[in-house]
Amino acid sequence: MGGGRPDEVPEEYRSRRSCLAVPGSSQRFLDKARGLAADEVFLDLEDAVAPAAKEAARRNVIAALNVGGWGGKLVAVRVNDAATRWAYRDVAEVIAAAGRGLDTIILPKVTDPGHVVWLDLMLGQIEQDTGDEPGRIGIEAQIEDARGLAKVDEIAAASPRLRALVFGPADFMASVGMRSLRVGAQPAGYVGSDAYHYPLLRILVAARGHGLAAIDGPYLAIGDLDGLAEAAASTAALGYDGKWVLHPGQIDVVNRAFSPSQDDYERAELILDAYRYHTSVEHRGAAMLGDEMIDEASRKLALVVAAKGRAAGLRRSQRFEPAPDGSAEHPPPGEGLGQPAGQG
Ligand code: GLV
Ligand code: MG
Repeated sequence: MGGGRPDEVPEEYRSRRSCLAVPGSSQRFLDKARGLAADEVFLDLEDAVAPAAKEAARRNVIAALNVGGWGGKLVAVRVNDAATRWAYRDVAEVIAAAGRGLDTIILPKVTDPGHVVWLDLMLGQIEQDTGDEPGRIGIEAQIEDARGLAKVDEIAAASPRLRALVFGPADFMASVGMRSLRVGAQPAGYVGSDAYHYPLLRILVAARGHGLAAIDGPYLAIGDLDGLAEAAASTAALGYDGKWVLHPGQIDVVNRAFSPSQDDYERAELILDAYRYHTSVEHRGAAMLGDEMIDEASRKLALVVAAKGRAAGLRRSQRFEPAPDGSAEHPPPGEGLGQPAGQG
């Protein structure tokens, strides 16, 4: 994966700061989602859709995918979980009829790596049948109960299609018996600092251990933007890439929380330039950039930050310049090359 222009962000590093849930049963919400500023939009066939509305929602979602017009957002569909009677038809019908219109399937309530393997195999079968690019469609696995968390490492390793692990706080709270109905907020009476710290960190480590993004779940109190900002800032600080949003009013708060600072963004773009120069011109795998050693791992980190910065509309003011003696240098802050904003 990851061909294309050298500065293009490969599929697996695309920004997922805000992931907007859109009920597949609501034509109005499906239409409205196209114009919103979320990085990812996911059309939901699972818990936002009542059992009696599942089939109609599937048809709506297929139609919405075929219309397209998502403006560069990542497009996902959340199917029903692998233990339900709806799951196989969700996958088969949506992918066969509209697979080219989506990037990723979100698989909820993953309690065992076998769930991911099942989805991977089904996607492969459908791709062979339709002639679509093998392996193009990714998988995001939701970890949302005690069993899934206990097996999170095996789940993270279950398929090369995996792009992200997603924490599902509502189902998780129910699964472990957390005594609160305030999903995403701290449970009253808990004396520790963050009741979600253990599952969040456990999922993050498993995700990073397998090169995946880590996404935090929803904050249900739609009107409490301060609480949302605090929760999002906390998981962003921990290392998460993004968070679900359930309402258009939550998007800006979450995008802000998961956007890099201007300095980090500038640095990430410089690392990408410097690494490209040193690997392709100097044929070296590691080099100095200022006083820091950069290598392939630095490039991967930089890709993530650059993707988020570009998605946030940040513009660079510095450009990499090889030092005359061939070592990697770059102009100190404030002494950029005067390159027009947005080019790089
Ligand atoms: C999301 O699916 C959740 O359970 O929080
Ligand atoms: Mg859930």
